[in-house]
Amino acid sequence: MEVIAELEEALSGAAARIDGAGNVEELDKVESALLGKTSAVATARREMGGLDPSERPQAGARLNEATSHIETLIAQRRAALALIDEEHRLTGDRIDVTLEAVSFPHGSLHLIQQTIDEVVDIFVGLGYRMASGPEAELAWYNFDALNTPPTHPSRLESDTMYLDYGDPGDEILLRTQTSPVQVRWMEQHQPPVYVVVPGKVYRTDTIDASHLPVFHQIEGLAVDDSINFSDLKGTLAHFAREFFGPKTTVRLRPHFFPFTEPSAELDVSCFACDGGESWCRVCGGAGYLEMLGCGLVDPNVFEAVGYDPARFSGFAFGMGVERLAMVRHGINNIRHFIDNDLRFLRQFS
Ligand code: DAH
Repeated sequence: MEVIAELEEALSGAAARIDGAGNVEELDKVESALLGKTSAVATARREMGGLDPSERPQAGARLNEATSHIETLIAQRRAALALIDEEHRLTGDRIDVTLEAVSFPHGSLHLIQQTIDEVVDIFVGLGYRMASGPEAELAWYNFDALNTPPTHPSRLESDTMYLDYGDPGDEILLRTQTSPVQVRWMEQHQPPVYVVVPGKVYRTDTIDASHLPVFHQIEGLAVDDSINFSDLKGTLAHFAREFFGPKTTVRLRPHFFPFTEPSAELDVSCFACDGGESWCRVCGGAGYLEMLGCGLVDPNVFEAVGYDPARFSGFAFGMGVERLAMVRHGINNIRHFIDNDLRFLRQFS
């Protein structure tokens, strides 16, 4: 049985070749060399027909045995390769959960911005819109249109920072208040007007515990058919309760501002002692805290923007944001807002 002898000879190295296949592709090649159309197995199968019938059963049995032996070896190798492959993938994909995580510090809004957002939200809740205006401003908007005469002391360089910009007659300055945005808004819009204006303001002040040369104000302006002083008081009382707590009461003291008549200062009841305890560190026993300036819009301001003072009336108010935040959080030095000390800032994040 030469056929079988040749076949066995041809397959003698088969097991080693199968084991030597390092991956599935190599194994596929070995398989087709050992069992494919041109393999010794295929040749032997074709030659079976030429054998003497007496030899055929034995030769056939040997051929089948050899074939299935090779098939088994290949199947085993294939399974082993799959395992190796999976192991590689698992080690490659492995995440080391014990590695220290890289964490990025989270920022947060500065307390001044948080305070602005909170105040603006309260007024937006009443139907007000938010407006803004330039920080480099004409004296006309900052003073003249606001009924502030050329001789007013606040216009002196000891109070106001002038910019060396434009024509000398322009008198360009860093706005000392957010009030000029009242004028700019009314020039551009007809009543009804309900706006709040947060922004930076500048004054020739030396830094101390309660003054900064750059600070923030929020202006408010309401102009409509029949606005009166009780609208002003009711609106500000609502604001005070929202900002300082529901038990807060307000009181108005007569004051003077060029752009309002009558003018007043608004005090809010002390939220810390609830009414003038001598031990109170927040109000010093006064029971009230000075909060903001306000009043009914002076007819001269309406004239300056082309509103008819006989037809419209309105109220305005302006508050310092730093002061609001200091009172509410018991901050005793305004410098904390600009020191950028994270130990301070993080208390409000
Ligand atoms: N602009 C004033 C200031 O800086 C604050 C102020 C007072 C604004 C009365 C107003 C107002 O609109 O009616 O001190």
